[in-house]
Amino acid sequence: MKYPKEYLDEIKTRLKVSSVVSKVVALKKRGKEFVGLSPFKNEKTPSFTVNDEKEFYHCFATSEHGNIFDFVMKTQNLRFGEAVKYLANIAGMQPYLFTKQDEEREKKWKEYLLIYSKYVDFYHDELLKNEKYSNARDYLKNRLLGKDEVKKFKIGFIERNPSFFNKLKKEFSEKTLLESGLFYFDEKKNVYLERFRGRLIFPINNISGQPIALGGRIIENLDYLAKYINSPETTFFKKGSNLYNLDSARKLSNKLDHIFLVEGYMDVVGLSKNGIDNAVANLGTSLTDKQILTLNQFFDDIIICFDGDESGYKAALRAAENSIKELKPEKQISFLFLPNKEDPDSFVNKNGKKYFLDFTKQNKLSIHQFIFGHYKKQTENNPSSMAIFEKKLRSIANTIKDNFIKKYVLEYFLGKIAQLTPYSNLNNNKSLFKKAKSLDLTKKFFNESQSISGVELKEFSLLYLLLNNLSLFQLNIHLVENIKLFTEINKQIFNSIIDKLKLNEPIDIENFKFDKQLLDKINKFAPIKHILKNKPKNETQIIELLDDISKDLFNYGLELRIQELESKFSKDMKETTFNELKELKNERKIN
Ligand code: UTP
Ligand code: MN
Repeated sequence: MKYPKEYLDEIKTRLKVSSVVSKVVALKKRGKEFVGLSPFKNEKTPSFTVNDEKEFYHCFATSEHGNIFDFVMKTQNLRFGEAVKYLANIAGMQPYLFTKQDEEREKKWKEYLLIYSKYVDFYHDELLKNEKYSNARDYLKNRLLGKDEVKKFKIGFIERNPSFFNKLKKEFSEKTLLESGLFYFDEKKNVYLERFRGRLIFPINNISGQPIALGGRIIENLDYLAKYINSPETTFFKKGSNLYNLDSARKLSNKLDHIFLVEGYMDVVGLSKNGIDNAVANLGTSLTDKQILTLNQFFDDIIICFDGDESGYKAALRAAENSIKELKPEKQISFLFLPNKEDPDSFVNKNGKKYFLDFTKQNKLSIHQFIFGHYKKQTENNPSSMAIFEKKLRSIANTIKDNFIKKYVLEYFLGKIAQLTPYSNLNNNKSLFKKAKSLDLTKKFFNESQSISGVELKEFSLLYLLLNNLSLFQLNIHLVENIKLFTEINKQIFNSIIDKLKLNEPIDIENFKFDKQLLDKINKFAPIKHILKNKPKNETQIIELLDDISKDLFNYGLELRIQELESKFSKDMKETTFNELKELKNERKIN
């Protein structure tokens, strides 16, 4: 039902955004705007702003943005039409009267909802109470599901020869009942049949929590019946626009930033039974853009967790290639692959919530990592295969609608490809400690030193050099004081040496109260000892050696930071991270 623009504008002129918002959010005036705590996210510092002049609100925490209609729809979960009615009422306006057609559809919608709610309630009660259905209850018991889950998901059971159609017929026309998709006409037998007879039913609700379709599972294995069936598409139910359990999962969006997207009804129920309620299932069809966008409205991270089998993997790949185009800044789509043959239901039942969540943290891949990894697996180390690989990744990145994300995903892909093609990227691919050749050589002398890391040995050299040339470095403190060390204990020693040097009093190694064992270790392992042994000691050479060591340590720090940022960037894809990374890489080139 489309409202005329004048009617909507009238509401907007009568109602200030701040007055609508302040019914839900405490607002404070700040300049021309109002600020308050975001209603879309738990936060301590206000990031939610309202501008009456421009007629919008904007939430910096979630990037939510819109006018009064959007605000009411989002905070109260209303459909647009309902939001208009609500706001028109506050504005003291008459509800808008639609044409005959609109009214007709509205009436049908109400009937549709009524049929579904009666249907779902009836068969839910039957499952809970009817003695005859012990087979269905036994089936649930075998699957470890009890009354709590049955009630929470309003699961029902329909007997093999139900007669509810006749009851409903008293209230609704046959045509209306047929249009609900719950029944069909058997021409041979000339009767109306219940589509879901002999099945457990899982109500599929719209976002406001009203049942609008069903999923049904057989409880005995009969080869000639599909294990699951869903309601057919109707005027009011489109598979690609709905998700199982979204109505209840979305309520967690102020506490949790991620949602699990799984394949099956039972996965959602099994996760919930184990305390994971932020899960939804798509309805036995491929994932649609609309479903991704809807989920991203409520959650920052969509974790797609399909079955750990070939068809689950293929479905995940399809989902990845299709949904990457909808990727938005601040939003993520991730993939979680379960061990072979497991689905979320079996996996969480075996291992429990904590394990499942830890497993998720450790194993989830962001969408670009998954796509890269998948195509890399298919690529062989020859020019033609590599070329196809790069082209494919470029074309996938090019489907991304958001220009910022497109740029960074492409950058990620090309960066990863560059790592695979070291010759064409010699300059920007220095590995950790390439310069430390001498270090590797000297390391050979010490079998004992195997357990000491390269950076530790470098630090030993630095400390050795300092301790043996205290007065020289006291005079040249500026050369040493800013060197950064990485091993905690060496750092402490280094700092105490610097502190003493700065005192500007004559010092001697005896002044220090170092751990004797550590000093021994430094004296024994400092690789520089061997270099010093073979060279005449003069001050210039000592300072040159110090310079080398400090450069190596600096580069080590740079590489560490780059690695850290690369992994951060591969997760957050933020422009700030990217720019920082770029700067560090430039610095690496200069060194
Ligand atoms: P699965 O067969 O993986 O479901 O199908 P499941 O939850 O693991 O099943 P059980 O109950 O534990 O054995 C996943 C989803 O695919 C759709 C359904 O939506 C189902 O939840 N499906 C599956 C169908 O539509 N028809 C089928 O015959 C099978
Ligand atoms: Mn499954």
